[in-house]
Amino acid sequence: DGVTVIDHPLVQHKLTIMRKKQTSTASFRQLLREISTLLCYEVTRNLEITTERIETPLTEMDAPVLEGKKLVFASILRAGNGLLEGMLDLVPAARVAHVGLYRDERTLEPVEYYFKAPDHMADRLVIVVDPMLATANSAILAVERLKQQGASNLRFLCLLAAPEGLERFRHAHPDVQVFTASIDSHLNEKGYIVPGLGDAGDRMYG
Ligand code: PRP
Repeated sequence: DGVTVIDHPLVQHKLTIMRKKQTSTASFRQLLREISTLLCYEVTRNLEITTERIETPLTEMDAPVLEGKKLVFASILRAGNGLLEGMLDLVPAARVAHVGLYRDERTLEPVEYYFKAPDHMADRLVIVVDPMLATANSAILAVERLKQQGASNLRFLCLLAAPEGLERFRHAHPDVQVFTASIDSHLNEKGYIVPGLGDAGDRMYG
């Protein structure tokens, strides 16, 4: 149904440590970086492959390489950058888009304060990253803005999703596959994911 839960044991174990309220900023950051490489591995699992003629020390062969133009990782600031770093460890040649959004704490509506995307968005797979999909207002707007820049092949990767946000996101962007490490119970009246892990941006940056 367009949603993939990444239930790898290492992902689940690290996520549990991140949820604990006594986990320090330093540990939280380190765990997010570790978990993001594992999430990146899963979100790129079915990328298209072509072959290239190469020479090994022994012979020639047709060897597999990634097809097409370099990927784009689109980070929703600030918290998206916590996922971005680990993903760039695995795909160092990826291009990066930055979408600066903050949630107005009263209306829960996202406010855009920065937007910059690389060239040739139409020809690239764009993986949008943000640890939290809560109301999905931020993710929906970020994907809209990226589509305005020409992106047409997108995936959304998060750590935690609320069922309400998932449904709204899928309704707004049915073409965008969602990857998450967990679908939590619900949103509270302040728009926080429960049980969740608090505010990812605050836990990383204060
Ligand atoms: C958080 C989170 C998402 C957004 C999710 O960001 O990182 O971007 O809220 O909520 P939504 O699905 O209801 O839109 P926040 O606005 O706290 O900004 P920050 O990442 O800079 O801390």
